[in-house]
Amino acid sequence: MTSNPFTPTFGRIPLLMTGRDSVIREMEQAFENGSGDPNLSTIFTGARGTGKTALLLYLSRIASAHGWIAINVAAISGMLEDILEQTRQGAAQFLEVSDNPRLKGLTIGQLFGLEWDNPEQQQGNWRTRMGKMISALNDQGIGLLITVDEVNSKLDEMVHLAAMYQHFVGEERKVGLLLAGLPGSVNSLLRNESVSFLRRANQHKLSRISDSDIAEGIRATIEESGRSISPEALSLAVEASDGFPYLMQLVGYQSWSQSPDSDAVSEDDVRWGITSARANFAERVLDATYYDLSDGDLRFLRAMLADARESRLSDIASRMGEASNYASTYKRRLIEQGIIGERGSSYVAFELPGFREYLEERFEELG
Ligand SMILES: Nc1ncnc2c1ncn2[C@@H]1O[C@H](COP(=O)(O)OP(=O)(O)OP(=O)(O)O)[C@@H](O)[C@H]1O
Ligand SMILES: [Mg+2]
Repeated sequence: MTSNPFTPTFGRIPLLMTGRDSVIREMEQAFENGSGDPNLSTIFTGARGTGKTALLLYLSRIASAHGWIAINVAAISGMLEDILEQTRQGAAQFLEVSDNPRLKGLTIGQLFGLEWDNPEQQQGNWRTRMGKMISALNDQGIGLLITVDEVNSKLDEMVHLAAMYQHFVGEERKVGLLLAGLPGSVNSLLRNESVSFLRRANQHKLSRISDSDIAEGIRATIEESGRSISPEALSLAVEASDGFPYLMQLVGYQSWSQSPDSDAVSEDDVRWGITSARANFAERVLDATYYDLSDGDLRFLRAMLADARESRLSDIASRMGEASNYASTYKRRLIEQGIIGERGSSYVAFELPGFREYLEERFEELG
């Protein structure tokens, strides 16, 4: 029995990165080009479960393969210190595994200047210490990529990092900064005057993955792991995944695990798999999303349920008994949370898979 190849765990790099080929290629080119490539400063946004963390980790691997040191942090207190420490460790590991004869035998102290062998002599503020390390790495042709997940505009260190990074870019260092977060968190960071530099960074929205890519991803994941899936079973799985990486992993995982010893994943396996996957998705994503909503958000969403597909903003406002600009505030909030999306200038629709059905049940319970 082969173990289940699907990875329905947040923050896990999947066996196959589905539907992200073009961004991965662009970033690979950027690591190759080095200093000055605009893609080296990129902000990824996407709703829960669209694959932000997995992409950051995957791109870090690619950067490493191109001779960069990649360090990954989350935007939490202590982040700047963590970046210093991880850079030092990353460089130490790099020296160990490097097959570059010039670097062989070099110690971390020799690379960064002797004070690294004697921590008491470490001097200067964050920028000077970091700048020194980056210079030492760059002198050896090594770039430094920093990825920051779960961007949070309320964290001073986040703003500080952005400002320092701008200096490093200005000094033409070989550095990269990839940020990822929910659309709302990123937008509120960009509203901060002190990081106006980031507004010019490249922004990449992780949107739904096309059905054909999802199909290819599920099929290849199953086949590479020694089983098969019929076109009919596959199309059920694709439909249930709804273009959403996390849902795709759940559907794949649960379908696989129905009869793991048989050669093929059958239609019945997928049908049962979808039922379990939906329950998992509700517990792990929809519940959390629901409990984050304000009363106003809920009233807005409730007013959308009257329409089968898209809702016109003016209809929502009148169902809420409010003026259009009041409703617009909630529209913006919900778009920023990845729950709804715009359809043309005056319509909105649900974006988060299964959330409409989930809310219908919730509201029914509430009466
Ligand atoms: N391109 C992809 N193809 C297939 N599966 C993917 C892809 N990207 C992510 N996944 C899978 O989707 C799930 C969610 O990924 P990830 O944790 O990166 O999402 P996220 O956007 O960081 O979510 P959150 O906002 O909650 O942090 C994981 O199980 C991961 O393995
Ligand atoms: Mg994440």
